Amino acid sequence: MNRTVLAIETSCDETSIAVVRDGREVLANVVSSQIEIHQRFGGVVPEVASRAHLEALESVLTEAMETAGVGPDEIDVIAATHGPGLIGALLMGVTAAKTLALAWDKPYIGVNHMEGHLFATVLERPDIEFPLLVLLVSGGHTMLVSVAGFGRYEIVGRTTDDAAGEAFDKVARYLGLGYPGGPVIDRLAQRGDPTAIRFPRGMIDQGLDFSFSGMKTAVINYVRKHPEASDEDLAASFQEAVVDVLVTKALRAAKKTGARTICLGGGVAANSRLRVALAEAAEAEGFASLVPDRAFCTDNAAMIAAAAHWRFEVDGPTGLAGGAHSNLTLV
Ligand code: KG4
Ligand code: ZN
Repeated sequence: MNRTVLAIETSCDETSIAVVRDGREVLANVVSSQIEIHQRFGGVVPEVASRAHLEALESVLTEAMETAGVGPDEIDVIAATHGPGLIGALLMGVTAAKTLALAWDKPYIGVNHMEGHLFATVLERPDIEFPLLVLLVSGGHTMLVSVAGFGRYEIVGRTTDDAAGEAFDKVARYLGLGYPGGPVIDRLAQRGDPTAIRFPRGMIDQGLDFSFSGMKTAVINYVRKHPEASDEDLAASFQEAVVDVLVTKALRAAKKTGARTICLGGGVAANSRLRVALAEAAEAEGFASLVPDRAFCTDNAAMIAAAAHWRFEVDGPTGLAGGAHSNLTLV
């Protein structure tokens, strides 16, 4: 069935609205980042985020509708990320979506943010074959998800402490490089030597779970002993250690679950080194790989619309009584 979804994403610090037709054709995907607002605090301040979403929503909506070239009549479903995320931030998107649903007389559906990240892969390859193994790495989550089909997920590995993105952000903060840390470390690493310092690879030989907290501490201890170390070499060596662990475990999980394709998702999937290393390792071991465009890796509403398209078919509307759930889980 032809269906055009308007989706709103406000779970953290990006205000995004997308219009997607049939779960795959992206007519608009407008993302307004709050990074500059939060930078002076060194991280996302939840109250500030909620207010910034409220202020941005109207103009982001106008831009998304204009870019898509559609009016309310051509929208069939209104979706919003309803969890997991910052509760105040989530409520802004959910309330905006429900208001539009009421005003335009359309059904409303709430979408799981993590399921959205999984659907980013489908936006680029609608014909992708299951089972897939998705390495989902963001600021709040690090997990290996075996996807047997839409809606059929098994988490086969997860972090036991920090998320990968959180480790990037904490190391960057310690080095005084600003927020968010991932993109800064990525940029600096391009001018550094990844073999300069051999940082530990947390739990690399065991199972499918991750531990990044010790790797972050190893960087801090190293800098205390070697204050002269260059930021470029520190960034490149730390990034190499994190990527090494992520790629090793993703391949191990793919072998274990019988997946033929390994996909990347989440904000850390924007990392240049991870994108190349995963594709190379997958090819060397006879797996296909799918690394979505960076715009679909970091938080965006197009992935929420893609998930909403499919969820709506299966579950129908959430209804206007639906709330926001900051601790919502994938399965
Ligand atoms: O998925 P996302 O946009 O928001 C969450 O749902 O958390 O991910 C944000 C995380 C941040 O920790 C950020 O530092 C990290 O993704 N990130 C990166 C890069 N771009 C964003 N990490 C490493 N390299 C990057 N290029
Ligand atoms: Zn995310």
